[in-house]
Amino acid sequence: MSAPNWPWEKYRGQQPKYEFESEATINSPAVLAYNGNMARLTCRTAGESHGPASIALIEGFPADLMLDIHFINTQLKRRQGGYGRGGRQKIESDEVEFLAGVRNGITTGAPIVVQIINKDSRLNDAEATPPVHRPRPGHADLAGALKWLTNDCRNTLERASARETAARTAAGAIARCLLREFDIHAFGFVSGAMDVKANISATVDNWEKLLEARDDSAVYCPDDATCKAIIEHIRNAKVDKDTVGGFCEVHVFGCPPGLGSCVAWQDKLDSRLAGAVMGIQAFKAVEIGIGKTCGTLRGSQVHDPIEYSEENIAQTNLGYDRPTNHAGGIEGGMTNGMPIVVHGTMKPIATLLQGMDSVDLKTGKPSRSDYERSDVCALPAASVVMENAVGFEIASAFLETFSGATMAMIHASHSAYTELARKISST
Ligand SMILES: Cc1cc2nc3c(=O)[nH]c(=O)nc-3n(C[C@H](O)[C@H](O)[C@H](O)COP(=O)(O)O)c2cc1C
Repeated sequence: MSAPNWPWEKYRGQQPKYEFESEATINSPAVLAYNGNMARLTCRTAGESHGPASIALIEGFPADLMLDIHFINTQLKRRQGGYGRGGRQKIESDEVEFLAGVRNGITTGAPIVVQIINKDSRLNDAEATPPVHRPRPGHADLAGALKWLTNDCRNTLERASARETAARTAAGAIARCLLREFDIHAFGFVSGAMDVKANISATVDNWEKLLEARDDSAVYCPDDATCKAIIEHIRNAKVDKDTVGGFCEVHVFGCPPGLGSCVAWQDKLDSRLAGAVMGIQAFKAVEIGIGKTCGTLRGSQVHDPIEYSEENIAQTNLGYDRPTNHAGGIEGGMTNGMPIVVHGTMKPIATLLQGMDSVDLKTGKPSRSDYERSDVCALPAASVVMENAVGFEIASAFLETFSGATMAMIHASHSAYTELARKISST
């Protein structure tokens, strides 16, 4: 039996090169129907804080994507930085190593395993990682001890630790390599802490300038006055042996409409983004667009009017412009072509140098909580984790919408959709 004449046949042997004639592909229903049996893009992580490595297993990633290792390692370096971090980051110098699914820097379509080696690896040294039996309020210690029926919180805290976010950041950065192929960019920053909150208007035209300002800032905040005020809060908390949380934002530019779905609650992109961000250690609130403010306003003040202009058809919103973006780019669980805006709130770190009232699990008697080497504020690092976690979720929704086993198929599907969508209102 001869091979069917699929439109991507001609790309065989040209990896990774994605040019194709869109007219040929657009007329092929196969482009939209065939998905190469792709699973949903998923990521699981493994590893203890002081184990040998932090690891991510990514499944459902297409073949033929040239990964930008420098970009991925830059995300890891940023995650290690920021004013307020503790001594651990001076020991580690995080870099990715691929154990599976990548050959000569190019994805193979097989599951990807990526690891980040822990230099501070001492999990099996009983003296260096002693039992912890005075749980820290706000950390996973007590709940984990009760769950696993032990008075030693060590196993729980080793896994609950935010060292895990190294692997999660790497996975998000890998997924963002795919998004960048389609000119989709996630931009995250710190927007405030405690009583300080910057009102930063990030747009498709100014975000790259804001990114420069963010990268020049010690707390990853593009607004200088806010940056100084946050540093002051962190400095004061350190003096008082206390900790600080705060606020982060991620904006995603260039997303086509239709990512996510309104047909099942599990597939709604806002619900998935909320889950992804709440899944980051210490994040306690997530908002999309104006978020909870919409409960204080009338419908006419909240909803973004719809305009159409054919000359803007080449924009990601296909010409359906919105003078405001209160919805944060998502309506009915689907992207509407406007930038996606996600806000996250991080609670203060639970490990206080002054300790907190707790109980000794061995005796049941009152005690101050244990202290583990810790950050005073990890908000800048958390903004990097959030940027990459959001990127991962967007890439996952993107691959479900424009699925394919190889990058060429995904490009064909994306291009075919874009051409059809531009015809909806054009005269
Ligand atoms: C980037 C980052 C760094 C963190 N660093 C610390 C830390 O040094 N000490 C600490 O107690 N908690 C730290 N946390 C928070 C804890 O991991 C988190 O509070 C804990 O796992 C309990 O989970 P929960 O806060 O989500 O309930 C950090 C969180 C993030 C996102």
